[in-house]
Amino acid sequence: MKISIFGLGYVGCVSVGCLAKNGHEIIGVDVSEFKVDLINRGLPTIQEKDIDNIIREGYEKGSISATTCAEEAVHNTDLSIICVGTPPTANGHLNLSYIYKTAEQIGKALREKESFHTVVIRSTVMPGTNKKYGEIIEEFSGKKRGVGFSVVSNPEFLREGSAVHDYYHPAVTVIGGDHTGAMEKVASLYRCLDAPIEITDVKVAEIIKYINNSFHALKIAFSNEVGNICKALHIDPFKVMDLFCKDTRLNISPAYLKPGFAYGGSCLPKDLKGLVTLGHDNYLDTPVLAMIHSSNEQHQKKAFELVHSKGKKNICMVGLSFKEGTDDLRYSPYVELAETLIGKGYRVTIYDEYVCLSKLVGANKAYVNERLPHLSEHISNNLESAIADNEVVVISHRNFDAKTYRHLLKEKTAIIDLARIHDLEELPNYEGICW
Ligand SMILES: NC(=O)c1ccc[n+]([C@@H]2O[C@H](COP(=O)([O-])OP(=O)(O)OC[C@H]3O[C@@H](n4cnc5c(N)ncnc54)[C@H](O)[C@@H]3O)[C@@H](O)[C@H]2O)c1
Repeated sequence: MKISIFGLGYVGCVSVGCLAKNGHEIIGVDVSEFKVDLINRGLPTIQEKDIDNIIREGYEKGSISATTCAEEAVHNTDLSIICVGTPPTANGHLNLSYIYKTAEQIGKALREKESFHTVVIRSTVMPGTNKKYGEIIEEFSGKKRGVGFSVVSNPEFLREGSAVHDYYHPAVTVIGGDHTGAMEKVASLYRCLDAPIEITDVKVAEIIKYINNSFHALKIAFSNEVGNICKALHIDPFKVMDLFCKDTRLNISPAYLKPGFAYGGSCLPKDLKGLVTLGHDNYLDTPVLAMIHSSNEQHQKKAFELVHSKGKKNICMVGLSFKEGTDDLRYSPYVELAETLIGKGYRVTIYDEYVCLSKLVGANKAYVNERLPHLSEHISNNLESAIADNEVVVISHRNFDAKTYRHLLKEKTAIIDLARIHDLEELPNYEGICW
């Protein structure tokens, strides 16, 4: 394929070399004459393992050239990959001016081009950039998105220092777009790699890189705080984290990585608090660990605000224990929600098939007696009438039987989902806590 690559920095230079090696004809574009000149002499613009060889080989084969003229590059290629920088502004936003400048340049060039052109945004950009990019091209080219051109989002995941290796060994290739032919063309560039190609929504493709990098940053900060605590206690943190990583069921796994409601129960809050206090006792600040609790509390408040926003007083809560299938009410975030609602004068009816008041014992009973002393007045044993008699239904547990109660729920002012019940999502009165 004939491909132009805008931006000859870390991402662009690696893409030039690797795509040329895979048999494509590449024209690099940069505003820097210095970088263009380097490529036109068969030299890389960056220092990276193996990049010298692949740029030189591509240049000697005649598959690599570069120019400062965007128009020339667009006219002589079918697809343009945008790899220009997206640095932060002083107030923390992204500076997308380089990105949008290339949209103007490509738009102007497309005025004089007959054939369909595919643009691929490889730079890291905020959700909504793809749409605006298309609007700018439409304005400058006079062509319609989807007819004369398409804009596809395809984030780059490589790391500097192992960029060429990472280019050839991605964990996954992500493609988001609204034009099947254009997305297929982009996918064909990566079929030679041993990695799944995931076609997804444009905005998902745009935000994923931020989510990945934020999680990587969180992992580093978390491990460093563990290191600090272990060091103070003369424990080997490498032994600890090596063991931590051996648990691929709950630790290094998809477990707990789904948006949902706040955590609770008798273990997570207690043990997190214990670790933060251990750090504190050793004169250590552990801001990442300490803020987890605040984040959880914020999320809990969000559920109350969601109920409050519906402007109704009669609330049915389906599920009270900290998770489905148990009667453990200790530190259940749903008990907290019920307590807040009752305290603020809402009429709350609670149904939980696993909670039987007469069978609660020990710490479980003591906890609920303290938080919800009049729980018996709120408990219903009939889910159908609990739903029918109230205006807002809050669903706490994933095992909710949506099919059976769907007809009743349709009539309610609002369904507030804290558990993600797929079967209710398309109802107009449905709202998820964070989706
Ligand atoms: N560096 C990485 O490890 C990495 C990894 C993945 C994704 N990314 C993302 O990829 C993007 C590029 O990063 P980078 O590190 O390669 O940036 P970079 O600063 O190394 O290179 C950007 C290049 O774009 C050029 N440029 C600016 N405006 C241009 C225009 N109108 N036309 C042509 N060229 C233009 C600049 O002169 C520069 O050479 C960023 O969004 C970055 O966040 C970077």
